[in-house]
Amino acid sequence: MTRLPRLYGDLAPWFHLLTAPEEYEDEAAVYEALLEDGAEGEVRTVLELGSGGGNNASHLKRRFQMTLTDVSPEMLAMSRSINPECEHLVGDMRTLRLGLVFDAVFVHDAIDYMTSRNDLGAVMRTAFDHLRPGGVALFVPDFIRERFAPRTSHGGNDKGRQGLRYLEWDWDPDPNDETYRVEFAMLLREENGTVRVEQDRHECGVFSRETWLGLLADVGLRPEARVIHVDDEEVASEAFLGVRPD
Ligand SMILES: C[S@@+](CC[C@H](N)C(=O)[O-])C[C@H]1O[C@@H](n2cnc3c(N)ncnc32)[C@H](O)[C@@H]1O
Repeated sequence: MTRLPRLYGDLAPWFHLLTAPEEYEDEAAVYEALLEDGAEGEVRTVLELGSGGGNNASHLKRRFQMTLTDVSPEMLAMSRSINPECEHLVGDMRTLRLGLVFDAVFVHDAIDYMTSRNDLGAVMRTAFDHLRPGGVALFVPDFIRERFAPRTSHGGNDKGRQGLRYLEWDWDPDPNDETYRVEFAMLLREENGTVRVEQDRHECGVFSRETWLGLLADVGLRPEARVIHVDDEEVASEAFLGVRPD
């Protein structure tokens, strides 16, 4: 992986103004149901890889005991501010080894930052190594190759006089490879009313359904693809489950 985007470094303190925890209630309910449905036996403990600002976790923690991990200490600090009761650990999802097993492993959009099959497979191996037999891993990429379409969106939030507005532009310089780009333009308004503009580029991975299912099987997980509808988005996306066999 190349350098982390600025959004997870110097701009991390703005993360909850870009995307607020309250906006995640409906989608977290979808992931909760997938985890419970996918696992054999009860799901109580969940390891999240790339948990970022802890937005999903702020809802999932009502139902599960969440252990939150991310490569960015700045993002973990943001998550701690809304999830103080959860354990937070710094770690790269490709190499993290806690020496513990969980009922489930959850990887939301952080999986987008795996830009090669090698890296994607390494995360699946991390998931396998942290699952009890019968436990389930859930991966939720923003796109798979079959469903990729260029997309423009905008949003943002205020907190007192501080505020952020962004334009996000997802596009693919080369549809024949396994990466695409996300360009962000952000307007940041400070407490004192001054506004500045920042740009951030994210290199992301995009893999076919067949590649996803094949890599999951390669690490020993029983793979399944599920079509999901999140929020009021018209376009469905696809999530992947992998159960660790007994
Ligand atoms: C969009 S944020 C995740 C937000 C999260 N879905 C939530 O609910 O708040 C993506 C995260 O992936 C993390 N990330 C990127 N590469 C990583 C890696 N190799 N290992 C662990 N985390 C990584 C970034 O630091 C960032 O916090």
